[in-house]
Amino acid sequence: MTKSAETTHDLVVFGATSFVGQILTRYLLDTYGVGQSVKWAIAGRSESKLNTLKSELGNTAKDLPVILADASDEAALQAMCEQTRVIISTVGPYALYGEPLVQTCVRTGTDYCDLTGEVQWIRKMVERYEEEARSSGARIVHCCGFDSIPSDMGVWFLQNQAEQVFGEPCLDVRMRVKTAKGEFSGGTVASMMNVAKEAAADPKLRKELANPFSICPPEHRSETRQPSLKGAEFDKTFNAWLAPFVMGAINTRVVHRSNALQDARYGKEFTYDEAMMTGRGTKGRLAAYAIIGGLAAFFTASAIKPTRWLVEKFVPQPGEGPSPEAQKSGFYDLRFVGRTEDGKTIITKVTGDRDPGYGSTGKMLGEAGMCLAFDIPADQPGGFWTPASLLDGKLMERLTSKAGLTFEVVETR
Ligand SMILES: NC(=O)c1ccc[n+]([C@@H]2O[C@H](COP(=O)([O-])OP(=O)(O)OC[C@H]3O[C@@H](n4cnc5c(N)ncnc54)[C@H](OP(=O)(O)O)[C@@H]3O)[C@@H](O)[C@H]2O)c1
Repeated sequence: MTKSAETTHDLVVFGATSFVGQILTRYLLDTYGVGQSVKWAIAGRSESKLNTLKSELGNTAKDLPVILADASDEAALQAMCEQTRVIISTVGPYALYGEPLVQTCVRTGTDYCDLTGEVQWIRKMVERYEEEARSSGARIVHCCGFDSIPSDMGVWFLQNQAEQVFGEPCLDVRMRVKTAKGEFSGGTVASMMNVAKEAAADPKLRKELANPFSICPPEHRSETRQPSLKGAEFDKTFNAWLAPFVMGAINTRVVHRSNALQDARYGKEFTYDEAMMTGRGTKGRLAAYAIIGGLAAFFTASAIKPTRWLVEKFVPQPGEGPSPEAQKSGFYDLRFVGRTEDGKTIITKVTGDRDPGYGSTGKMLGEAGMCLAFDIPADQPGGFWTPASLLDGKLMERLTSKAGLTFEVVETR
């Protein structure tokens, strides 16, 4: 059962005033206008901030409807969900503010997508609400930004190509960030610091975060040992040094859940990891060590009270993020290397045309919401999906035609 198309709105952007919500809102306005083929609205807790946003967006936004709701006000969330078929939420850290909205979407059969990268929260939401989502018909899709659409859709694309060219999927896939230019926003830093703080206080959570299959359904938790880069390593395929990629902690979990939700289409023994290329020679090696040292310092200092305040002083605050120029000049280029069981190899590439975390994320999230609203058949069951397992080629078409992403095969051998 899904909602009727008779709701007032097709889609509501909850958290339109957030750093990324503003980028997303402008993107939807520029791409789809107001009151035309897409009926959409903006929502948030502060009427004055929402009205300021509308006036900053200019005259074309003057008829954009506004809905008021606080993330903890269940009656207001219920009223918001009753007006729309799809909610896009950017209100994070989701582990702090996100649950009442997920619960309300599940109860009202409203489709939902967001930008969370908080594994422990996703797992909690799946455990608590998956059964109810299946019966209400609500399709919930977390991780619809830079984490984890390029990785999840990148692996999905590679496996499609491998099946076409080799007649079988690749049992092992490695994603390498070749280049990425962008900055973190206050909201993302707050989410990362919240995970570090929670993990420091809870050994069970640390174990959960270390489990590559932590968000897979229990019957799909594979025993296959997963590669996991801890230090600097030299990659012969690309002739470059590698350092751990901070988003790999969420992306790898989403890719494994996608595999599970597609009935282990990539293989029961499928292995996957992510890393960043840091260049060749001594310079590349030193850059890898610098990244490892920087990540360790950030997470250690964020985890404990005496140093957390110091980190907070130097990182962007909620609502802050890269300038419009930095968003425009940002980009990313990800390479995927897949190998079949008998060694056939395919290399693919995914690129994005804006900074990964904001300019590109705003567009990806907007198109994930549009895909939920217009491309997914009503009889597709409710539940907690991933971008690749639910939105698949329909999302890829939107990403390439509207959101500035490319997917291509570089080489097969
Ligand atoms: N997956 C990715 O690639 C990716 C990329 C970027 C961001 N993110 C995640 O996306 C989220 C947003 O990031 P951001 O930097 O845009 O955040 P931000 O600028 O700090 O914005 C937070 C938003 O939450 C709203 N909010 C906070 N408490 C609320 C409440 N009680 N009720 C209603 N709204 C409330 C704020 O409303 P006010 O404006 O009224 O204060 C604001 O709109 C973060 O969780 C971040 O980690 C993920």
